Formats: sequence, structure tokens, C-alpha cells
Amino acid sequence: MGDAQYAAGLPDDAALAEAGLRLDVDGAVATVTLDRPERRNAMTFATWRALAAIGRSLPADVRVVVLRGEGPSFSAGIDLSMFSGGGGFPAGEDDLDAFIADLQEGFTWLRRPEFVTVAAVHGHAIGAGFQLALGCDIRVVADDVKFCMKEPALGLVPDLTGTKPLVEIVGVNRALELCLTARTVGAEEAARLGLAEITAPAGELDKAVADLVASLLAVNAGAAVATKRLLLEAPGNDLAAQCAAERREQAGRLREMFGGLPG
Ligand code: CAA
Repeated sequence: MGDAQYAAGLPDDAALAEAGLRLDVDGAVATVTLDRPERRNAMTFATWRALAAIGRSLPADVRVVVLRGEGPSFSAGIDLSMFSGGGGFPAGEDDLDAFIADLQEGFTWLRRPEFVTVAAVHGHAIGAGFQLALGCDIRVVADDVKFCMKEPALGLVPDLTGTKPLVEIVGVNRALELCLTARTVGAEEAARLGLAEITAPAGELDKAVADLVASLLAVNAGAAVATKRLLLEAPGNDLAAQCAAERREQAGRLREMFGGLPG
């Protein structure tokens, strides 16, 4: 697979196909499909660069981004061919840091407050696939899901932004147990651990996602952006700082809704 550098603007269909992706933008909803079912949607460096390019250039009126996988699995993680023959990793320490930071940008944009990101996860979500689901705001999970953080079993660490959300969701001890056994987590346990906000029978995943998207779009757009920003700040703030953040965001809402502060 090629490794196109992206100019400003959404990658075209050919560049997306090269990266194993499909993108459909329908008004306020963008759907990103991992589209290499014959490789169980294994992802390459090009996939993550294309994801970052999508994140940089989605139309301003997109409010919800859905990530889904074509075929039997959400994603079998990194394409293992990336590791053959050195995998194209740079040799120098600084270069390697910048190289991985660049790949992480394929995941970090999912946290931007302008839109809510939804992972529709079915079948295997392994390694980078699990981390991609963790990068999203809400996980809708089919009852055939199999999450697995496989990196330590391969001699590596999860480095595609997944460790922070994993620890925030399940706690450090459970995160350790999951990562250092590289065991598989099914739908029932995923729901119990908070790794799945919504579960659905495998054949009804699309409907569950569509229902969620409709509910998300029914909420005031400005309030959705401000609330996501506020909630994402909360884990890093003490109570006083978070109270101040609430006041600041509410002042913004009141100004926008009423053209000024009440009173
Ligand atoms: N990379 C490249 N090819 C892959 C792949 C991957 N990660 N996962 C599956 N494929 C290929 C298989 O080689 C197979 O190809 P052929 O048809 O040419 O034989 C094809 O996809 C279908 O795969 P299976 O026949 O194995 O399908 P399955 O449904 O029986 O099993 C699976 C699915 C459990 C996901 C299994 O394919 C598997 O274990 N894949 C490897 C998973 C893995 O180890 N991923 C890396 C995790 S670590 C990470 O992502 C992050 C990191 O930075 C290290």
C-alpha cells in the first residue's frame, strides 16, 4: 500500500482506497469504513495518515463521525507486514519519536469537540483496532465482539493513544491485566467494564448506530460541542477548575443563545 502525503482537503477516493479506507459524508454525519475485509481490515501507516487527513479536513457541518469495519471484523490491528524488513521505521531516536507522533495523529483528532465520534465494533478489534475504538467517544458493540490488546504479546506496547482511555475507563489494575495477558474481552464483559456504551445483536449493529446518531443530532449543536469540551477536561481538573470550566462554557452558551448574559 502506498504512503501518500496529503495536501489540504479530504483525501480522494483513490488515496482512501490505497489506505484501506472509505469515506461517506452525508450532511452532518461522516462514516469512515475500514475497508480491507480480505485482510480483516488490518491497518498500515498509510491508514493512520489518511485518518489524520480526514480529521483535518472534514466539512465544518459534520457533527458525528462513525468508524466501522467492512467484513467479519472491525480490525485485526496493524498490518503485520509493517514489521517485515524493518517496516520502514526510521533508525534515529528523534526520527522515530516524530514518526510515531505522526501516526498517533490518526487517532487524536477523534477527541476534537467539534464532533462526536462513534466506533461501531464487531468481530475482532485487536491491538491498533482496539486502540482505534478506544479513541472514539462512544463504542457501540456487537455481541460477537472480541477486544484484545495484543501488543505486549508481540513484544511491543500499545502506542496509538489507547493507554490513556483504557486506564480512564477500566482503571490501571484492570488495564494491566488486560494488556499483560493479551486476553480477549467479549461483549458482555466489555459492557460491564465500560468499554461498550451500547451493545447490540450482531445483525442489528447498524440500526443501533443509526438510532444513536439520530439522538446525537437531535441535541443542540453548540451545546454538544461545549459539553464534549467540558467533559473531556474533567479528568484533568480538580473540582474548582472544573466548576470554573462549567461557568465559562455556560457563559458562552448564554451569550450565543440569548445574545448576552441574562440579568
Ligand atoms: N496483518 C496482516 N494480515 C492479516 C492480519 C494482520 N494484522 N490479520 C489478518 N490478516 C490476513 C490473514 O493473514 C489472512 O490472509 P490470507 O487470506 O492471505 O491467509 C486474512 O487476513 C484472513 O485472516 P484469517 O484467515 O486469520 O481470518 P480469521 O477470521 O480466521 O482470524 C484474526 C482473524 C483473529 C484477526 C487473525 O487473522 C489474527 O489473529 N490476525 C492477527 C492479529 C494481530 O496480531 N494483529 C496485530 C496486533 S498488535 C497492533 O495492532 C499494534 C501494534 O502496533 C503492534
